[in-house]
Amino acid sequence: MILPVIAFGDPVLRKVGVDISSDYPQLPTLISDMFETMYHAHGVGLAAPQVGLAIRLFVIDASPFDEDEEDKPKQLNFKKVFINAEILEESGAEWSFSEGCLSIPEVREEVSRKSVIKIRYQDENFKTFEETYDGILARIIQHEYDHIEGKLFVDKISPIKKRLIVKKLDAITKGIIRPEYKMKYPAQKKRKN
Ligand code: NI
Repeated sequence: MILPVIAFGDPVLRKVGVDISSDYPQLPTLISDMFETMYHAHGVGLAAPQVGLAIRLFVIDASPFDEDEEDKPKQLNFKKVFINAEILEESGAEWSFSEGCLSIPEVREEVSRKSVIKIRYQDENFKTFEETYDGILARIIQHEYDHIEGKLFVDKISPIKKRLIVKKLDAITKGIIRPEYKMKYPAQKKRKN
């Protein structure tokens, strides 16, 4: 089932997500709905707060980036569920990349982040992993990880650039900017979580 994506301005996007356990209600359905919602909106990642749930869960499918990453075949078909994730370490040189977010349609900005991350998380079977990522995968994970920490990529841009997009952000919150996928705007009735 395709879920509405929560728009910028909704307080749920600012909550720090809580850990979940394997008995979280209808977790397999939620995960599958999140993938479906993400694919429908042509995203490469989606975090639970973006569907109204302040929990530590996000999904990623980086395969749309494969075309740009021909020199990095190890990154092909990267589809993963991250539960109760914790970034243990960020290292390497900072690099800039133009980021977007399904909760902030029609906004793209260069964001600078460190290039390497070490992350501990559980998969959909609650098996624990500790892994290191770099390049575009690290970038996507960092973006989604920010969501479960109540942070958004627009927090990381310069005040001058932020001033230039303030009206656009306001238009998103008010539902004036509407993407082709279904969104839920703060003014509308909120999902319970
Ligand atoms: Ni996002």
